[in-house]
Amino acid sequence: MTTMAEHAEELIRSRRAVRSFQPDAVPDETLRAIFSLAGAAPSNSNTQPWNVEVLSGAARDRLSEALLAAHAEQRLSVDFPYREELYSEVHRARRAAFGATMYGALGIGRADHEARDAFQAESLRFYGAPHVALLLAPSNADERMAADIGIYGQTLMLAMTAYGVASCPQGMLGFYGDVVRDCLGISEGKVLFGISFGYARDSAAVNHIETGRAALGETTRFHT
Ligand SMILES: Cc1cc2nc3c(=O)[nH]c(=O)nc-3n(C[C@H](O)[C@H](O)[C@H](O)COP(=O)(O)O)c2cc1C
Repeated sequence: MTTMAEHAEELIRSRRAVRSFQPDAVPDETLRAIFSLAGAAPSNSNTQPWNVEVLSGAARDRLSEALLAAHAEQRLSVDFPYREELYSEVHRARRAAFGATMYGALGIGRADHEARDAFQAESLRFYGAPHVALLLAPSNADERMAADIGIYGQTLMLAMTAYGVASCPQGMLGFYGDVVRDCLGISEGKVLFGISFGYARDSAAVNHIETGRAALGETTRFHT
């Protein structure tokens, strides 16, 4: 195996969604290096349709408070509507297996709705992360642009991994588009998802869950 392949194996396989962070901020210089690297992501005709808003310090705290208030009042504004019927049986089975693993590591039982709600609220505190990046698409964006922004998101998380920074992508943050725009002082743009990031709390069991993946043949066919 070439050295680059070895690095790629390590980089891609060591990224994982982290849901408990230390409060320490990532130095500005590292932030700039990471976000510059992420900008190398490919996009349709090199249009780079992402608009990335990175919040730290007081700006991060203000957004978290506003999200928690909206959550408590069930004031949702979902920019990319969620449809349960989108998921087939196999997708639902994978989602259930993931939920069982994650809530198992958290010690939260299936019927413990209070603890599950509290953990959802924790996600609006960005799981304790000192930074959050919001990935916005233009207001008129469709699936084509969403694909570009998704690719940017994974490139960004891999760049973070390379610099020792942990992350959690959070579709949940896109359920409060109005709150995000209000906090940012903008009226345009749709929130696709957010990425909480910082340094992982290694002692947290939830940061060590094995999510696993479908066998290659379940998702990929090779034609000759
Ligand atoms: C677009 C997207 C949205 C996600 N939304 C959430 C979320 O709202 N909350 C959360 O805790 N994890 C969220 N995740 C993380 C997934 O649960 C996680 O990526 C998946 O279980 C695989 O685990 P791994 O990232 O550790 O490999 C999201 C992931 C993606 C790619």
